[in-house]
Amino acid sequence: MNKKVTVKTIQKIKDSGEKFSVLTAYDFSTAKYIDEAGVDIILIGDSLAMVALGYDTTHFVGVEEMEIFTKAVARGTERAMVVTDMPFMSYNVSVEDALKNTSRMLKAGASAVKIEGANDHILKVITRCVQSGIPVMGHLGFTPQLLNTIGGYNIQGKSLDTTLEILECAKKLEDAGVFSIVLEMVPEESAQFICENLKVPVISCGAGKYCAGQVLVSDDVFGKYSEFKPKFARKYGDMKTLILNCAKQFNTDVKNGSFPSAEEAFHLKEEELEQLELYKGSVKC
Ligand code: KIV
Repeated sequence: MNKKVTVKTIQKIKDSGEKFSVLTAYDFSTAKYIDEAGVDIILIGDSLAMVALGYDTTHFVGVEEMEIFTKAVARGTERAMVVTDMPFMSYNVSVEDALKNTSRMLKAGASAVKIEGANDHILKVITRCVQSGIPVMGHLGFTPQLLNTIGGYNIQGKSLDTTLEILECAKKLEDAGVFSIVLEMVPEESAQFICENLKVPVISCGAGKYCAGQVLVSDDVFGKYSEFKPKFARKYGDMKTLILNCAKQFNTDVKNGSFPSAEEAFHLKEEELEQLELYKGSVKC
C-alpha cells in the first residue's frame, strides 16, 4: 500500500511545484475506485445534497448525513486523505457547536474538514479546530452555502478590489492554520495572483491551472449527474448512458424471461430434488 496522504504530503507536493488531485465521493465503492486510481484527496462534499440526494442546493444536508457518508467513504479509502465538508449551519452558531460537529467527522473517519468563508467567527472556529487537532481546508471565492446572500452562481474576484479581498481572506485563513484553500469560480489570472501570494496550497474549483490542486465533483467527471454541468468541469465518462443501458437491458431480460439463467440460480442436489418431488406427490396443495 502507498503511504497515506496527510496535510504534510499536500504541502510537500505544493512546495515541489507538482500538482495534486481531489475528487468528491459519497459511497464506499466509488471511494474505493477513486482511491485505487491514485487521487490524492477524497472530499465528501456537501454537493452530495444535490448529486446524491436530489436537492436543488447544498443547504439541505445535515451533520448526521455527512457523518454517515463519511463513514462509507472512509471504509473504502486506504491511501487518499479523506476530507468532510461541514454542512450549512454546522459551524456558524458557536465555536463549541462547531468543535462538536467537526470532531464527529474525524470520529467517522475523516482526516480533516472543509469550512466555507473567513469572517471573524469562522476564523475563531478554524483556530480552535486546528488547536484541537482537527485539520481544516478553507473555501473562498464562490461559497455555495452563501448562495442566497451572494444572489446566484456568480464568478468571484473579477475586479482588482475583489481579488485583493479574497487574498486578504486567504491570508487570514492561513494565519488561522488551514492546510489548504479551495478557490471556487475565480478567473484564472486572479487565482494565479492569489496562489503566488500564499504559502498553503490552493485547490482550484473552476479557478484555472495555476493552483496546486484541482477538485471536481465526481458525478460530473463520470457523466452521472445530468441536471447541470459547470463550465469548469470535464466529463471523462458517460455513466448516465451506462446505467440507462444496463437498467433497460435488465428490465427487458426480466420481462422476456431470459434472466435469471440456470447458472444465475441455486439448485437442489439430485437426492434433495427427489425428496421434494416425493413430498409434492404425497400432498395436495
Ligand atoms: O461540495 C463540494 O463538492 C465542494 C467542492 C466542489 C469543492 O465543495
